[in-house]
Parts: sequence; structure tokens; C-alpha cells
Amino acid sequence: MMRIDVISAVPDSLASPLNTSIIKRAQERKKVEIVVHNLRNYAYDKHKQIDDKPFGGGPGMLLKPEPFFECIEKLLSERKYDYIIFPSPGGKFYDQKTANKFSLAHNLMIIAGHYKGVDDRVREKFATDEISIGRYVLTGGEIAALVIIDSVVRLIPGVLNDSGSALNDSLMDGDIIEAPYYTRPAEYKNMKVPEVLLTGHEKKIKDWKEEQSRLLTEKWKKINNVE
Ligand code: ADE
Repeated sequence: MMRIDVISAVPDSLASPLNTSIIKRAQERKKVEIVVHNLRNYAYDKHKQIDDKPFGGGPGMLLKPEPFFECIEKLLSERKYDYIIFPSPGGKFYDQKTANKFSLAHNLMIIAGHYKGVDDRVREKFATDEISIGRYVLTGGEIAALVIIDSVVRLIPGVLNDSGSALNDSLMDGDIIEAPYYTRPAEYKNMKVPEVLLTGHEKKIKDWKEEQSRLLTEKWKKINNVE
């Protein structure tokens, strides 16, 4: 079973997404164990302080290094980690290829910073993969951690009911966007499902899906400036 450890100063923010739907089911089915660590439990000074003012000035507070070191070193003494992921706007852009790589791991650790950031010695000492989930700034690494967990867990065999569905996905084998999907009713508010899908003609349906996928992929590349 894969194990994912997440270290956070706001662990409550992770609870609901990790205990809902497919990610919840994956844990119940023992496909993954997700352990959230409250940074505050590793603050050993009498005020349990986890943040402090940045050296050199500037707005906001930083998360102090000691609680992270305490927590991470304890985890490292218990098992080996394949990847120690540090979500950060300065990291490498996250993509399906990286999700695939992480999904083959036995043990993942994710260090979620909050407030203005984390004392950089934590990243320097422990991070194997610094990951950005996009060109925007979040209030903390928790949502990025959830994005990574969700994209990784769904790739673990047996997590999705239809084992083919993860493999067939958009972007799984390169940058391919799939044809649109429809269910009943065949007509709704004057909007009709494409006729060919109602014919039961397998070959025609396959050709239609391939053509739609080609068109949508072309459009996707154009609007995102990718080749
Ligand atoms: N923390 C704050 N912004 C982030 C981003 N865009 N990606 C990953 N971690 C972040």
C-alpha cells in the first residue's frame, strides 16, 4: 500500500477533501494510507510557536525550521521516502508525467508551507521535488498538496472502478483531449446529443470520437500556446 505523509500548519484544511469520494474510498480499500501531521505538535518550545518574523524584514511571518526538522527527521527514521515534495510557486510545473512518476512510489512526503512561506533551510535540506501547480499564488501549499494527492491516488491500480478509465484519460499518454461525453436525456432544453452516439454503430462512433478528440486537442494547443 502506498503511504503519503503531509505536514501542515493547518491540517484541518485537508480533512474534508481527503475524506470524500474516491480518495476516501481508496483509503478504505487500503490502496493508500494518508497521514496528516500537525506542525504545531512538533513545536517543542513552551509557547509552541511555529512562526516568526523574517530576517531582513518584509511583511508577513515565516514558518520556523525546527518543527519541520523534528517532524521530517522522525518520519525519515521510520521509513524511506521515494519523493519529498515541496509545493511552491517557484517549483517545476506539475503535469501528468510527474503524477505518473509519483504514483509508482511506495512512500511520499509532502511539506505544505503556509503564511508567507517556510524557512528555506527546510526545502534545501529535504525537498527532492519542488512543484508549482500553476502560475498563480495560493495562501499555502495545502491546496497544491491536495491536487498532487488527488492526481496520484487515482492512478493507483484498483482505485478507479473502471481500471481503463485512468489510462484512457485526457493527457495520460501525451497531451490528448478526449471527445465530449453525454448521457440521457438525448434531447434537453432543445439541445441534442450528437446523432452518431445514438446509432449504436461502433465504427462510426469510434471515428467520431477520434475526430472530436483531434479537433479539441488542436483547439487546446492553440488557446494554451503549446505544441
Ligand atoms: N504555494 C503557493 N502557491 C503555489 C503554487 N502555485 N503551486 C504550488 N504551491 C504553491
